[in-house]
Amino acid sequence: MKPTPPPDYFENLLDLIEIERDAERAENERKLDLMPVQMRETLGKTVTRLVLAREDFGVGGHPLWILSRPSHGEEYSPFQALNQGDLVALSFNDTPGAPRVKGTLYDIDEFEITVALDGSPETPPKGRCQLDVLGSEATYKRMKKALVNVQKAEKKSVAHLRDIFMGKKEVSFEALEEPLSYQNNKLNKYQKQAVEKALEAKDVALVHGPPGTGKTTVLVEIIRQSVVRGARVLASAPSNIAVDNLLEKLLDTGLRVVRMGHPARILDSLRHATLSAQVAEHYDQSSIRELDQERERLLKQRARAESRGRGLAWEERHSYQTAVQKLWQAARDREYALGREILAQADVVLVTHGGIAKPILKKPFDLLIMDEASQATEPLSWVPITQTKKVVFAGDPLQLPPTIYSDDAKKRGLGTTLFERLQKILPEKAQTLLRIQYRMHETIMGFSSQQFYKGALEADASVRAHTASDLPHVKDAPLLKEPLVYIDTAGSGYEERWNDLLESRENEGEARLALQLSGELRENGLPAKSIGILTPYVAQVRLLKSLSKDRTLEIGSIDGFQGREKEAILLSLVRSNPQGEVGFLEDIRRMNVAMTRARRLLIVIGDSATLSRHPFYLQFIEYAEKHKAHRSAWEWIS
Ligand SMILES: Nc1ncnc2c1ncn2[C@@H]1O[C@H](COP(=O)(O)OP(=O)(O)O)[C@@H](O)[C@H]1O
Ligand SMILES: [Mg+2]
Repeated sequence: MKPTPPPDYFENLLDLIEIERDAERAENERKLDLMPVQMRETLGKTVTRLVLAREDFGVGGHPLWILSRPSHGEEYSPFQALNQGDLVALSFNDTPGAPRVKGTLYDIDEFEITVALDGSPETPPKGRCQLDVLGSEATYKRMKKALVNVQKAEKKSVAHLRDIFMGKKEVSFEALEEPLSYQNNKLNKYQKQAVEKALEAKDVALVHGPPGTGKTTVLVEIIRQSVVRGARVLASAPSNIAVDNLLEKLLDTGLRVVRMGHPARILDSLRHATLSAQVAEHYDQSSIRELDQERERLLKQRARAESRGRGLAWEERHSYQTAVQKLWQAARDREYALGREILAQADVVLVTHGGIAKPILKKPFDLLIMDEASQATEPLSWVPITQTKKVVFAGDPLQLPPTIYSDDAKKRGLGTTLFERLQKILPEKAQTLLRIQYRMHETIMGFSSQQFYKGALEADASVRAHTASDLPHVKDAPLLKEPLVYIDTAGSGYEERWNDLLESRENEGEARLALQLSGELRENGLPAKSIGILTPYVAQVRLLKSLSKDRTLEIGSIDGFQGREKEAILLSLVRSNPQGEVGFLEDIRRMNVAMTRARRLLIVIGDSATLSRHPFYLQFIEYAEKHKAHRSAWEWIS
């Protein structure tokens, strides 16, 4: 029996996203002071140095504050990452004790933003003001709209997909007429299988790809094959970086690709592929320029007329105003039309799930490709699905799931991704497990393979036995000839500490040892950029960064490193306590990600006395022993 979700399934999802929205807002507000301002600013969640320009009242008498920021010659407006409807907090840090003011972003233009205050008007404190985004309303609205559409759809292709995804309809297939001629002739047999199954499936196919097994590579081949067969393709992923990764691979194929989304949030090297860039370069752009120039001319003329004499008569001012507005609208309409034209002619349109505001084409796409599918919640996944007839998912539910703020929403279903649900519903014929990985030495791969993939993974010959010492300019030192080293800190006195401010844990002994080891790797010729230090705890990240003198050495949390790799990874597990508590190390999917980021050398630092109380870590220690990789921290303590 297939598990059939209950009839009120979509109602429940609608409730869950409301709960999640409130939880996200509350958490962001609580965390405002924890993340450094510069970091928040690069993420687009904060705008500093604002001044209150005016106060006003909006529809319904809502108090409005109009804030502006003096330009500092930035390439993009400081407000690019903000969206109308975002929930925000305003702080006046120059005025000690001034309370935070909350509101909603009402209007955004290049130099000014307008915030509608939540409550009754307050007397604005003096001085500069900082704006922090507490939650993006836009994505929630889009999820809500998508879920409602899916729920009530009757004839459209989305109704068909919904019924399949709810286990109410069978999927269908159509055999290929002739053997495939592959565009990428390096694909391995499992990758070829995945491409074939995806092309034969008429509704949906899943590609389950463990770390480094070439999911994105497979998706690119599926896209190319589908375009050859006349398909219009939409390619989507939950994060900008994942979309850019796919875009980068597609740009080499010669397909006509368009990347939707604001250029400010897209990698520099890929900006030429954005819709805005393509509109700007369109041969028909001159007509827009003419409209804009004409508008500027009128504005200047009006200014001149106003500066002469006592100003303009009402009628005259009004006719200028109307003419200017018409020209502005005509230019924007033309721009929009050009954009639609470019999109309609593209082979592949790329966008984040949350970046889709309305139907992109008049008709649904023939194929939707979803990369990093196990990193998106089900409601978010439905946003792009409403635009297509067929979907191919790629992901790995045994790596980290999407971040969810509300434990309640997580337990009530938001924690299960559509990818996981479909793994249970869909027949074998619609699913492939990729098995050959192109990243790790086989000893690094082995533990993950055994724990998570029933031992199914294989290391490609090109990486199977590679070690750091095989790299150019790297010495043949003993540590660099190993693929895996577990450094046991039991009995070393390195104890964990609770960091109150960050609400997280740290372990100074481990931090110093990790930095000492990275120093040893560099002394032996491994460049800092090839080394990463990872740890599950934010407090340990902070401590490591404050102790490290080298800015080129990448130190980070595991969650932020999913999808990436380094030649050598040092992993500091932090936990060391007499009770044997491992806390959130219990989420072993996080460890799966952490241990599979290293290509040639993985060094794990942790206290066996604490860790071995948990079966996963006990088995890891046994695995290390079996591979003669279990060492004591005493070897490094002088
Ligand atoms: N069949 C293959 N032969 C050689 N290298 C491959 C093959 N498939 C993937 N790779 C390489 O493996 C790495 C990971 O591929 P990618 O498609 O990004 O994987 P994933 O999306 O699963 O993380 C890339 O460097 C890619 O070029
Ligand atoms: Mg990928």
